[in-house]
Amino acid sequence: MKETPIKNSIVAAKIAESKVENVGRASIRELVHLVFEIEKATGEKFIRMEMGVPGLPSMQIGVDAEIKALNSGISSKYPMIDGIPEVKGEASRFVKLFLDLDIPASCCIPTVGSMQGSFAAFMVSCRKDKSKDTTLFLDPGFPVQKQQHHNLGLKYETFDVYDYRGDKLKVKLESILNKGNISTIVYSNPNNPSWICFTEHELKIIGEISIKYDVTILEDLAYFAMDFRNDCSQPGEPPYQPTVAKYTDNYLLLISSSKIFSYAGQRIGVMAIGKELFKRKFPDLTEYFSSSSFGHAVVYGALYSLTSGTSHSAQFALAAMLKAVNDGDHNFVETVREYGKRAAVMKKIFIDNGFNIVYDRDEDQLIADGFYFTFAYPGMESEELLEALLYYGISAISLNITGSTRSEGLRACVSLIHFDQFDVLRSRLQQFNLDHTES
Ligand SMILES: Cc1ncc(COP(=O)(O)O)c(C=O)c1O
Repeated sequence: MKETPIKNSIVAAKIAESKVENVGRASIRELVHLVFEIEKATGEKFIRMEMGVPGLPSMQIGVDAEIKALNSGISSKYPMIDGIPEVKGEASRFVKLFLDLDIPASCCIPTVGSMQGSFAAFMVSCRKDKSKDTTLFLDPGFPVQKQQHHNLGLKYETFDVYDYRGDKLKVKLESILNKGNISTIVYSNPNNPSWICFTEHELKIIGEISIKYDVTILEDLAYFAMDFRNDCSQPGEPPYQPTVAKYTDNYLLLISSSKIFSYAGQRIGVMAIGKELFKRKFPDLTEYFSSSSFGHAVVYGALYSLTSGTSHSAQFALAAMLKAVNDGDHNFVETVREYGKRAAVMKKIFIDNGFNIVYDRDEDQLIADGFYFTFAYPGMESEELLEALLYYGISAISLNITGSTRSEGLRACVSLIHFDQFDVLRSRLQQFNLDHTES
């Protein structure tokens, strides 16, 4: 065996010890553990690209507001389930200023991260009409949302949207929706893991389909305004974060604080429900909840039974962070633009060394540089590539777990990689390329 940047006998031994049958199929957490063990045994630092976690400090305004709120004694009191007025009001302002949408404060509800937001949304949206018992995921996607479907015993269908961009999306959606069994369509935009972004044309297609087939759109905006090709950072000024809500009233948006404010640890986000959907009545909901009204079922049926609201102090933090960006006192997009800068350099290093970007276009445009990118190496399937890269001190995840049809692809998250690691990344990939072109 050739000598590799990370001693190959140790990597092989640690893989064997890990008891993971096929490293290429390991879960993210198994991989994290394996990489940790290899780093410990070799003393070598990996280029860690497997976890989708923030790599920047939390927005200080949130931390300060949370401490102040705790010192004022709010921790002894249950928060309102539908959120404190401060966070509801600022969330409503935020959607006006950064999405150009009118969503009343009553329809903006804090959740324990978007993770809880999607769970609660599925509990209601996927059960609101007995004749529609299936969710459609526009993949690739965030695997946990499918786990949530398994937890709730809900059915879903999926397809890789990259094969159906532009007008082809309409034809594909029609072919699925005309069966009449879809309750909800789910996607993230920008997309985790591929970082593709729907164009206005595609969002319009999705919006029109939503109206035609009376289907709710769950738009996950975990990476809000992070398509850095357009500067969506100025409150009240176009361009705005693109959204399907411009084309349909039947929508629910998830806005997470985890990445945009690096506030992942406090687990808070906002669910913004279109006002028409919020007040709409669905008789089938009474089988599960005390009310047939969508919004009431989300708050007093789903969220009440899950956590009875969102941490009181985190709500004050989010209210303060949203107020600062709404008032134009803090430009959150400028802060996270750092990820785009890292991605631009890292993608070039990969391409210069024989790799290619798997999801690389939004219709006729190159995709943005942002939090994630996807890559492959000619002649290798993702599982083989993932394992081979461990010997070169590089970790990523396989696209196989995301509903992607690109069996050769891996996802890289740029958040934890700093500029001073780029030389190491370059030299490791150069050696990888050399070793794999010779053989
Ligand atoms: C697409 C998507 N949705 C939701 C989440 C979870 O967000 P939160 O931390 O607010 O629960 C993530 C986090 O990685 C994500 O990538």
